Formats: sequence, structure tokens, C-alpha cells
Amino acid sequence: MSEPVTQVRFAQEADGIPNAENWQFTHDPIPPPEEGEISVKMHFLSVDPAMKGWITNKRSYIRPVKIGEVMRGFGVAEVTASRSDYYQVGDFCTGFTGIQTHGTFNSRHLRKVDASLAPLSSLMGGLGMPGFTAYFGLLDVGQPQAGETVVVSSAAGAVGHIVCQIAKLKGCRVVAIAGGPEKCRYLSEDLGVDAVIDYRHEEIASALKKAAPNGIDVYFDGVGGDMLDAVLMQINRLARIVLCGAISQYENLIKPEGPGNYFQLIAQSGRMQGFTMRDYMHRIPEAFVDLLTWQNEGKIEFREHIINGIDQFPRAVEMIFQGENQGKLMLQLISEPEA
Ligand SMILES: NC(=O)c1ccc[n+]([C@@H]2O[C@H](COP(=O)([O-])OP(=O)(O)OC[C@H]3O[C@@H](n4cnc5c(N)ncnc54)[C@H](OP(=O)(O)O)[C@@H]3O)[C@@H](O)[C@H]2O)c1
Repeated sequence: MSEPVTQVRFAQEADGIPNAENWQFTHDPIPPPEEGEISVKMHFLSVDPAMKGWITNKRSYIRPVKIGEVMRGFGVAEVTASRSDYYQVGDFCTGFTGIQTHGTFNSRHLRKVDASLAPLSSLMGGLGMPGFTAYFGLLDVGQPQAGETVVVSSAAGAVGHIVCQIAKLKGCRVVAIAGGPEKCRYLSEDLGVDAVIDYRHEEIASALKKAAPNGIDVYFDGVGGDMLDAVLMQINRLARIVLCGAISQYENLIKPEGPGNYFQLIAQSGRMQGFTMRDYMHRIPEAFVDLLTWQNEGKIEFREHIINGIDQFPRAVEMIFQGENQGKLMLQLISEPEA
């Protein structure tokens, strides 16, 4: 007997930040697995800023979701039926599961995970895509050295709060930029960054001068726009700008605003480099082991913001663009047993 399935489909293009009108909930049966396939039920679904890009019809690193399709999304899921030699019922897996309660996939589409190593939710956060993004973006692209000043924007978010902690572990001076007093308190008191800037209440250029008196060596950018421009004016010689995202520009991805002050890269022999996690898929085990070890040793923590139910998906997408999330935002579909 097939279980009731809820799927969230992309229903209508979003002019600005996506809202309830852009999604449609449908309830179609999913097919049983054929040879080489597995059926799964989702435990957690990730809510990401990238979703705006995925529903925008412009050249990107991945094809856009078409109107009527199930929305793309990361999830962590449990196998409920298997016709694959590689999976047994009760195994867990992660990857692009889509925003739906259940699904049937080719077994190679998802990555098997050991659910005994850590809580399942952390596979959506610190031990999943955001953690790996922070790890490779900072260490591989940013190449911070002990004693250097690292500035991080959207610093209290899923990626940013892990970047801040890794940069501290590497002996850097960390300046965290976030919106609002609670996020700034968290970064400064709980994570121990060296300086915080509340960009909603402070003028960014003068706040940066105060927080980074020796200039900026590495900027981990999740915001773009005016913030990137302000940082560029204060970079040191051979600075590295890590372009991770540009959420301030996601409202209008068709014609985003570029950095006016990019000449500073010439003047300071600086480097600006973009990346996506896809560049590092082959190195996931390396990041996983380091992040898990640091967490087990109490050197880093993963902040998670969990909302119950797939029906909350439209609201959750709005929350992320309004800065209402405290750490990694995700939907929980099935309650976890007590640890
Ligand atoms: N390259 C990759 O592979 C990759 C992977 C994951 C994420 N990313 C990018 O990294 C960035 C952070 O992603 P995340 O998943 O960690 O999300 P997140 O930081 O958990 O959530 C997004 C945060 O962005 C801030 N924000 C929203 N609108 C803003 C605006 N107009 N100006 C400044 N800040 C704004 C909000 O925090 P405040 O309250 O502080 O404003 C919000 O909480 C995004 O740009 C995302 O696209 C890239």
C-alpha cells in the first residue's frame, strides 16, 4: 500500500523574493521502485537561498527548475523499499531529494550516510552542504593564514557561522557581519569572534575600519552588493575575496549589481574567486572527517533552525530572505527518536 505523498511544485515565476504564490502542493502517488531503484521517506529538507536561483531562468551552474516540476532541494531520507543491492530498508541517504515527503530514485542519485555518526539534522547543516561549503570555501579558496584578518558576511547563517569558527581555529582575527543584535550577540559571546558588525544598524565602511584596523586579508562573501564594495575599499595587498553567494542581489538575479570598487583588486594585487560546492564533491570525506572531529572535540558547533512540516516550506523560504533564520534552516518531516 503506498503512503500519502505531498510534493511542492514550482508553480509561478517569482518577481522578487518567492512567496506562497510561487508554489503548489500536490498529492500524487509515487511509483514503487523498479530494478536498481529505492523508495524513501524524507526526515529533513533543507531550505536554501540558492532556491531563488534554481527557479530563475538564467545561465547558472545547474539547470533551472521548470514550472510544474517538484522543487529542487536537499534532503536526508530513510529507505522504505529497495530493489538495489547497495541499499537495505532502514538505511539513510542524502542528496537532491526534492521538496516532497517521499520519492523513488535510482539508487546512485543519492549518497548513503551512516546515521549512527551524528544527528540526522546535522547532515543538512554542519556535516552537509553548508558545512562543506564553509570548509572548502574558506580553506581552499580563501587560504587564510594565522594572524590574518578574515571578514565574514551573513555570518550567523548556515555557512557563515561555520566559516567564523574554522577561521578562529586557524588562528585568524575574525570580523563577523550579521543583521540584528541577537545574531551579533551569538557570534561574539557564543562563537568568540573578535568583532561584530550589525549591518542593519551600523554604517559598514566606518564599522569595518574600527573592526579591522589592520585591513582585510580574506573576505568570505555571502551577500555581495554594497557590502562587497565596502570591503574592497579596505583590502590588504594579496587579499583573497571568496565569492560564495550574493544574497542581497537575489531579488533581481536577471540584472544584479556588480562591485564598483573592483579596481582595488588591481591596486592590491588581490584575487576574487567564485566557487560552488560542486567543485569539491570528490573531497567531501575529507571535510566530513574534519568537521565531525572538531565537533566531537567541542571546537565547533552547528546552529540549526528547525521548523516542523512540509506545509511550512513557502514561509521558510521567505524567512531566509528576511533574515529570520538563526543558523541552518530546515524542515523536519518525521520526529527523531530520543538520542
Ligand atoms: N557557493 C556555494 O556552493 C554556496 C553554498 C551554500 C550557500 N551559498 C551562499 O552563501 C550565502 C549564505 O547561504 P546560507 O545557506 O548560509 O544562508 P543563511 O546565511 O543561513 O541565510 C541567509 C542569510 O542572509 C542574510 N540576508 C538576507 N538578505 C540579505 C540582504 N539583503 N543583505 C544582507 N544579508 C542578507 C540573512 O541574515 P542577516 O539577518 O544577517 O541579514 C539571512 O539569514 C548565500 O548567498 C548562499 O547563496 C553558496
